Amino acid sequence: MNHDQEWTQPEPLWREDTTIDSFDSLNENLSTDVLIVGGGITGITTAYLLAKSGKQVTLIEADELVNGTTGHTTAKVTAQHGLIYDEFQNHFGVDDASLYYQAQMSALAFMEELVEKHSIDCDWVKEDAHLFATTKQGALKLEKEYKAYMNLDIPGELTDTLPFDMDATKALSMKNQARFHPVKYLAAVVKELKNLGCDIYEHTKATDVTEGDRIEVTTGNNCTITCDQLVSCSHFPFYDGKGFYFSRMYAERSYLMAIEPEKEIPSGMYVSIDEPKRTVRTAEYEGKPILLVGGESHKTGEGVDTSFHYRAIEEFAAETFGIKKKLFQWSAQDLTTLDKVPYIGPITRRNQRVFIATGFRKWGMTNGTLAAQLIADYVVGETSLFHDLFKPSRFKTDPSMKQFLSQSFDVATHLIDGKLEIVGERPERLRTGEGKVIQWEGKRAGAYKDQEGKVYMVDTTCTHMGCEVEWNSAEHSWDCPCHGSRFSYDGSVMEGPADKPLVDLSEQLLPLSEHKHEGQEDQLEESE
Ligand code: FES
Repeated sequence: MNHDQEWTQPEPLWREDTTIDSFDSLNENLSTDVLIVGGGITGITTAYLLAKSGKQVTLIEADELVNGTTGHTTAKVTAQHGLIYDEFQNHFGVDDASLYYQAQMSALAFMEELVEKHSIDCDWVKEDAHLFATTKQGALKLEKEYKAYMNLDIPGELTDTLPFDMDATKALSMKNQARFHPVKYLAAVVKELKNLGCDIYEHTKATDVTEGDRIEVTTGNNCTITCDQLVSCSHFPFYDGKGFYFSRMYAERSYLMAIEPEKEIPSGMYVSIDEPKRTVRTAEYEGKPILLVGGESHKTGEGVDTSFHYRAIEEFAAETFGIKKKLFQWSAQDLTTLDKVPYIGPITRRNQRVFIATGFRKWGMTNGTLAAQLIADYVVGETSLFHDLFKPSRFKTDPSMKQFLSQSFDVATHLIDGKLEIVGERPERLRTGEGKVIQWEGKRAGAYKDQEGKVYMVDTTCTHMGCEVEWNSAEHSWDCPCHGSRFSYDGSVMEGPADKPLVDLSEQLLPLSEHKHEGQEDQLEESE
């Protein structure tokens, strides 16, 4: 393999070969029955279901449709969400663990029906999903998980080998799962939405919510949308509604790459359960089978130099499959709830007009579709077998309190450690394309030098609740370790809960170049 070969595309595979209809931004006030905020799989599917039920639906997206988490997925459509069924039947009981599986499979069945009904050409392939272990302890965990499968009537099989070059100690399959091309699928659903008369606006960011007789949502360009019911499908809820979601979830980043392998491509979808975690699935590109290989999850804003993670995956792919050609690489951010079950339903116990869907972990294709089904039922007043299990106001002390305390401790640590950190770098020493935490006039600041040599400097204090952001060298972003907010190198918000940009300190750099001519460089050298 040629390690020096450049990636042909530093972008997700999914948008490369597929276009999706584009829409204007909103530039007038309007009124609608249901407003859906977020144009990923959850928002688009919710809009489809509600428009079909006869509701007047408006969907707005802050960026472009399917350009957020849905556009960065591995696109596995499966109920095998890691090692969860043994844990769920212990914590929640057999009935709820079984309901979780049934809910995911109902989402898979809905998607399959939609593909058939509208003859959607989206590379839909039914395949088994597999967990695999490479250690003895991992093998024991898979044996326990298999017992849970048998107890919950989940079709699966425990084996000792994998169909690719890897020493596995055990592998556990889940039968009849699927994979697909998410953008091809959603491009077709968006066309159906247009036929159903749904209003869609891109580049329209919801910024404020006022709840009165009706709900008023203000957009970034000062338009107002008045609605009877509001659905937040914006990954991190754009509106908290006193639900304190930032304290009830944590964000993780993970990395994925598409390669043309040298070795034969195995069928099936694979996730390892031992560290370092790895995920593998096949896909199609330009009529040929290719492999998606990923992993390296870490909490947002934590961990080593982020470009290390791509290198680690590349090494794994080269050793296991050989790399004939490197095609794409991209990363994703996922949110995990306190008990690993998504929050889907009314935003608080008393508020039955605003609904949220979030916390899908890495399993947004089935969870996002399920969320659309459950929220559509809420909106039209129907009950679902699955509502109680997923409603955000559920309260399970175990394991959620343990997770809550651990998350709160993490936040407190970042708040304190970030402020005390001593940093000594200076902006004039940055290399092109490099970002760093620096010391600027005795305070912590973040600086980045772009390809043209322009330096951007921001205050690294997160505008959400004051933790200190860290530089993400792979994505050129400032990431907050407390609740997962992400900011571009210039400080603009890429991902909430923060809704305000980092304070821009770039103007303060001007005196630096002027002062440098007056010998400031020498003074700075002395103060090192
Ligand atoms: Fe909450 Fe940064 S995201 S403090």
